[in-house]
Amino acid sequence: MCGIVGYIGSREAYPIIINGLKRLEYRGYDSAGFVLNYPEGLEMVKTKGKVVDLEDKAQGVKLHANIGVGHTRWATHGVPNDINSHPHMSNNGNLVIVHNGIIENYEAIKIKLYSEGYVFHSETDTEVLVNLIEYFKEKENLNLTDAVRYALTEVIGAFAIAVMDSQNTDEIVVGRLGSPLAIGIGEDEFFIASDASPFVEFTKDAIYLEDGEMATIKRGEKVKVRKIVDNKEVHPSIHELQLDLEQIEKGGYEHFMLKEINEQPKSIHDTMRGRLLPDEGIIKMAGIWDHMERFKKAKRIIIVACGTSWHAGLVGEYLIEELARIPVEVEYASEFRYRNPIINKNDIVIAISQSGETADTLAALKLAKEKGAFIYGICNVVGSSIARITDAGSYTHAGPEIGVASTKAFTAQLTILTLIALKLGKHKGNLSNERFMSLCYELSTIPSKVEKALNTNDIVKKISEIYKDAENALYLGRGYNFPTALEGALKLKEISYIHAEGYPAAEMKHGPIALIDENMPVFVIAINKGHYEKVVSNIQEIKSRSGQIIAVVTEGDKQVRDLADHVIEIPECSEEFSPILASIPLQLLSYHVAVMRGCNVDQPRNLAKSVTVE
Ligand code: M6R
Repeated sequence: MCGIVGYIGSREAYPIIINGLKRLEYRGYDSAGFVLNYPEGLEMVKTKGKVVDLEDKAQGVKLHANIGVGHTRWATHGVPNDINSHPHMSNNGNLVIVHNGIIENYEAIKIKLYSEGYVFHSETDTEVLVNLIEYFKEKENLNLTDAVRYALTEVIGAFAIAVMDSQNTDEIVVGRLGSPLAIGIGEDEFFIASDASPFVEFTKDAIYLEDGEMATIKRGEKVKVRKIVDNKEVHPSIHELQLDLEQIEKGGYEHFMLKEINEQPKSIHDTMRGRLLPDEGIIKMAGIWDHMERFKKAKRIIIVACGTSWHAGLVGEYLIEELARIPVEVEYASEFRYRNPIINKNDIVIAISQSGETADTLAALKLAKEKGAFIYGICNVVGSSIARITDAGSYTHAGPEIGVASTKAFTAQLTILTLIALKLGKHKGNLSNERFMSLCYELSTIPSKVEKALNTNDIVKKISEIYKDAENALYLGRGYNFPTALEGALKLKEISYIHAEGYPAAEMKHGPIALIDENMPVFVIAINKGHYEKVVSNIQEIKSRSGQIIAVVTEGDKQVRDLADHVIEIPECSEEFSPILASIPLQLLSYHVAVMRGCNVDQPRNLAKSVTVE
């Protein structure tokens, strides 16, 4: 987590850094800071709070340098306060650093530095690192690049760092292990950032550092990339960014989350574009096709993911088992990586991750790879760490998702999983041509059905008004829509701070039903497919105990309408596609409730978009 940004060139660095930090704020937003490097010395401002607080604090400060770095923080070591905020300065006041990641052995390094007379002002691991760099620089009389390299070889953990020396206003040194870092290459200027969004309007050319690489960025020179471990020079590829400014702005919406919810017809369409040819009955997915024999022979697919992506994985389990008849297990990446899992060569491990940077998911994949599994990635962020280490994969093409609560990335993940399940089902001979064609055709109509589902906004807003003060909520679903219930509950709790739980509807009787009283809103996904009658019985059971029922139903439904307190209608669809459509009103509901409760929708407390620490 945390976002880092930097600039070196002939423009004013401050506005680039501040705007860049605003774009990276999704990565962490409990404190922020920057440092500008003038020939006369450093100008550093940092504060607890958000980037707007930093801007306030910077008023009246000299802000005209053309080299500097900035940071937005999600606290790991030390509470969010001014002192723990980045940048951090070394003891002699010359070196400054911004850091994203965790230095696991910082205590040991700190003890060593204490014995050399170093003192520390913050509780952070980062302050230890900048002093270790200073220590090498001074003791071994090294230049900045070599001092950074020496220090990084002693470090255990994860980092993306940018370091400057007050004695040199022409250079920034960066390094990466486990946390992302992009370098934007302009004409006689360079940008540094955790992702490319801070510099997208200035250049389309970027280098993405690989794990274990560092770079020296010098005014007027080519970027020099080398391996941290042995100082070997690396010739990096320059990538052309596919991102544009419009994609990362709010486009007239009050919040990114609302924009992203409304973008879903397009993001789902973009995810299918060029892949699904419904009239020809063709699904083109090179990542699957190139490894079809492996998929056909797979004894098992294991899906690893976290949070919303894990919920997508659960829907994937239903889809792949039903359509392709391959056994699927879905694991929390954080559990999988630490329990010595049994993995065989014929297993396929699929990681699902919007950011492609989630530390636990990345570690789970690395473990699976070590144990010989074929690893496949479903990521949204192009060029992300997971996308790079996998043997093959499919991008979701949802476009940048900035709201911390995942919405369009989730439905894009469901779309990719459906395409994969259909393709495997067809090539394994589990699906008749007729069923395959009909599901392909229906999938192609999903963007317009999502458009219709978005029309529930007004009714959802009214329902939100009624339940906005609830302290608890239950979400129930069965089959494909059990994960939808989990996802609905996660959306509500993460942005409105209402305690919410998702359950398979039939599990109610085994405990949760004790919670039902007249104050408990129960959101039930009760579409007219699959286990409809059973869900109706579950609704009866809740009604008999005075629970408030809000049901997501298929348009035209009568039976549930008679029982429920409120119904939200979504378009008719096959069960396979219902999680996509049923999620839409649940996303809208959590959005409206959070807005009505005065919560920060795009940056909920304690969270960050990209969880790059375990
Ligand atoms: O980037 P990832 O998909 O790997 O992220 C996984 C979770 O951190 C993420 O889905 C999280 O649960 C979201 N905040 C949910 O809205």
